[in-house]
Amino acid sequence: MPPALKALAAQLGGWFVAWLLARSGLLPGGLWALVAAQTLGAVAVAAALRSARWWLPIHLCFTPLAVAAQGLGLHPAWYLGAFLLLTAIYWSSFRTQVPLYLSNRHTVQAVAGLLPPDRPVALLDIGSGTGSLLRPLARLRPDCRFSGIEAAPAPHALARLLGARLANLSLRRGDFFATSWEGYDFIYAFLSPVPMAMVWKKACAEMRPDGLLLSNSFPIPGLEPAFVLDVADRRGTRLYAYRPAAQAGKAAK
Ligand SMILES: C[S@@+](CC[C@H](N)C(=O)[O-])C[C@H]1O[C@@H](n2cnc3c(N)ncnc32)[C@H](O)[C@@H]1O
Repeated sequence: MPPALKALAAQLGGWFVAWLLARSGLLPGGLWALVAAQTLGAVAVAAALRSARWWLPIHLCFTPLAVAAQGLGLHPAWYLGAFLLLTAIYWSSFRTQVPLYLSNRHTVQAVAGLLPPDRPVALLDIGSGTGSLLRPLARLRPDCRFSGIEAAPAPHALARLLGARLANLSLRRGDFFATSWEGYDFIYAFLSPVPMAMVWKKACAEMRPDGLLLSNSFPIPGLEPAFVLDVADRRGTRLYAYRPAAQAGKAAK
């Protein structure tokens, strides 16, 4: 079951538990007893559905915070506004399980160091976010072509705005799985563990024979990288590099 569906089931399950307890007369009166029963029910259902551990504190806080926020008397438009803003930023993360976080400048330097200094190349950032990797690279290497594809409207709009003057940068909105990866020397991915097996499959099918797939932080499951680059930053970023054309052949043997 996808995590978002598990979360919904846990919350609804919690309300069912609270309703059962209230009906059977086992619950003391008052709103907070009902909230406590719902919360514990939601946590129990989430645990039974084997939700990731970090969902449990979320379920523990969700209804109490919602009820407490109700007491602030905020205009409902604030909630709608916050919901729309978060939707524009995170868009399909509930389905793809890839949220927005950004490559740092140390990673940009490390990727720049991998680009051949003597010839122009083309790099595609799959899930390009706000363009935090592509914009500095496009400035550093005006001879190269940098492209990005991003699903979420808000990061994409910001990337376009900030990169409007860069002639060697092109950004598109869409699903990178539905777009061709042919013709690129480098594909850069900073995603999550969830899509990496599918990323590998598509890279093997579409990347050019000498192409390099770079994955920030998330290795392809069960596959030895061609090399790993340790970035000198505080979070200990690792760049996993794969040569799909060469490695796919080896993996098949
Ligand atoms: C962790 S961020 C990385 C942003 C940027 N590449 C960077 O390094 O700063 C991953 C981005 O991938 C986007 N994303 C996830 N799945 C996608 C898909 N199938 N198609 C397009 N974008 C996707 C998310 O919306 C998110 O903005």
